[in-house]
Amino acid sequence: MKTSSTRDIPVTSDTPRHVAIIMDGNGRWASKRLLPRTAGHAKGVQAVRRAVETCGRLGVDYLTLFAFSSENWRRPADEVSLLMRLFVQALEREVTKLQEQGVRLRVIGDLSAFEPRLQDLIFQAQASTAQNDKLNLTVAANYGGRWDILQATRNMLAGNPGLAQDLAAIDEEMLASHLAMAWAPEPDLFIRTGGEQRISNFLVWQLAYTELYFTDCYWPDFGEAELKAAFEWYRTRERRFGRTSAQVHTSPGH
Ligand code: IPE
Ligand code: IPE
Ligand code: MG
Repeated sequence: MKTSSTRDIPVTSDTPRHVAIIMDGNGRWASKRLLPRTAGHAKGVQAVRRAVETCGRLGVDYLTLFAFSSENWRRPADEVSLLMRLFVQALEREVTKLQEQGVRLRVIGDLSAFEPRLQDLIFQAQASTAQNDKLNLTVAANYGGRWDILQATRNMLAGNPGLAQDLAAIDEEMLASHLAMAWAPEPDLFIRTGGEQRISNFLVWQLAYTELYFTDCYWPDFGEAELKAAFEWYRTRERRFGRTSAQVHTSPGH
């Protein structure tokens, strides 16, 4: 069971152990260059590669990337299908690289909405990288924070139908153990590129005490320097988890 930031004080360090990123601004990056939005998505894949490599090198244990939200189906059909094609391509081309880098890939979200070929590629990539433990890369695809809480609630009750008669037994840990990313600690650092300051239905449960960093940089332009700037900012944060500053100073390392 992972530490819950609302039940215990998590141990923290200068480098965030878990980084969660909303990769936003691909479309605007392209429009600024008079290119189709899709060109921005293609360029965004390169930024994903950079982020994975850099996080691995800087000692991050968990990197979680928001690739496609449960609301992104509302986009024009041709943009949605291009995004699906890019996802297929990335899975076909990048798995060898992930192996070399010791990266374990997991995909979270309602995968049942994807075409069978994409689902197969996801399961294969997850299986073939399952032994890697240098960096845990999670891609959120057809993911929504509300979907996650709902599916966790349904699974919790399905696994224990008697719970409805024992409501006091339901606690945070019990529900959290059914969340799509139950294996990971809560994110320490959230980054959103592209200038918007909102969560857009990302990890709504898990971000309760995460430090939130927003940058105007568009995702295709996000590289090592921008990531390091975010980490520098993170180092300056005092993570109090509800306590006073004086209390934080008397329990070093936490
Ligand atoms: C993020 O970039 C990628 C996805 C949501 C798939 P956007 O496509 O949202 O880019 P902007 O926000 O329109 O610039
Ligand atoms: C959030 O970006 C989702 C992803 C980056 C995958 P959006 O561009 O979809 O978010 P909104 O619509 O601006 O809130
Ligand atoms: Mg956007």
